[in-house]
Amino acid sequence: MKLFANRVSEIRPSMTVEVDVLAKRLAGEGRSIWDLGVGEPNFDTPMHIRSAAVDSIDKGLTRYTAPSGMQNFKEAVAEKLLRENELVYAPEQIVATSGAKHAVFNAIAAIVDVGDEVLIPTPYWCTYSELVRYCGGVPVFLECSKTDFRLKAQQISKAITLKTKAIILNSPCNPTGVAYKKAELESFAEVIVENDLYCIADEIYEHLIYTDEPLVSIATLPGMQDRTVVVNGFSKAYCMTGWRIGYLAAPISLAKEISKIQGQCTHHPSNISQYGAIAALEGPFDSVLEMRCEFSERMHRMCEFFETVKDIHFIKPEGAFYLFVDVSAYYGKETANGTQVSNSTEFCKALLDERGVVIVPGAAFGVDSCVRFSFTAAFPTISVAIPKFKDFVERMR
Ligand SMILES: Cc1ncc(COP(=O)(O)O)c(C=O)c1O
Repeated sequence: MKLFANRVSEIRPSMTVEVDVLAKRLAGEGRSIWDLGVGEPNFDTPMHIRSAAVDSIDKGLTRYTAPSGMQNFKEAVAEKLLRENELVYAPEQIVATSGAKHAVFNAIAAIVDVGDEVLIPTPYWCTYSELVRYCGGVPVFLECSKTDFRLKAQQISKAITLKTKAIILNSPCNPTGVAYKKAELESFAEVIVENDLYCIADEIYEHLIYTDEPLVSIATLPGMQDRTVVVNGFSKAYCMTGWRIGYLAAPISLAKEISKIQGQCTHHPSNISQYGAIAALEGPFDSVLEMRCEFSERMHRMCEFFETVKDIHFIKPEGAFYLFVDVSAYYGKETANGTQVSNSTEFCKALLDERGVVIVPGAAFGVDSCVRFSFTAAFPTISVAIPKFKDFVERMR
């Protein structure tokens, strides 16, 4: 039998997806599990979105459309980008995708050639590096300071070589919760424009922010819109994870190339999901605000609790729904059950085996000293899981 394509062996499976599958399997087998691993809101998709999708099926709007998506979907996204982000896009610059992950893939596939370097600030969402590798590119990691996890413009300048093609920015960030301020984005944009790079700006957590500082899209800054692919989706803010619907906005020539790729791969995301997404963009915003309020409350309560746990460190998230906690003071120690823990993967495995609490190893995000807690679970889960975590670490010797 011939071997598989080299590009397959180049990439690792998604650790966040693996942790989620494991947690769901264990729960299915009847184990008591407290799942703070998954980045999936515990709320249902709002009713007006579900109704719009059902309505589209009832009306028989279920035929093939253009690969880049339905015209009314692209118009709704263009209106949203103008209304919420002060970005002017024509519908032809929008491509509907099967989730934001697929938008990131499309952008990388259209931009990155074999040997091209792509800058990725670390900690990073685990998918970026693997998709760059899959497309033959070379991820170049820019290690953010562990004290604030914020990228500095000088780090970008220093890493640039003749092969650098693009940078991937994610704000608010999974897993750190860092949301860059306008002045920081301006300093990045200056280097990006000066060095003629593409920027893939993943803004999927834009509505989940816990500071008063307004969020700015880097594409609004001088010289940026012509070189930026804005990536967004409906999974997080509208609780539509399983609908697999997202989009990207790009310069027209790039959007055309991306549509060409999509036309040969998936054709277009489900019309039904696109109708749901239009209702999300055009309908009431209350559910997003209510959910944000709930996440904010959970985040503050978790932070307060973590303050009481010995020898762990974290920064308060400004956005998204994760806490990225440094637990490395416990590496080299043994758990109460006698398991030796020397890295984030062993730490998370022992916590799951001994206490039933699911979290994600920092290794998945390029920072082995940390572990990621998601606050997408409801209070009853959080309020059992966190004391279990505290007891677990404080009994380590
Ligand atoms: C930063 C980031 N981008 C994109 C995605 C994927 O979103 P979607 O479900 O729309 O593919 C995630 C999901 O965890 C994420 O954390």
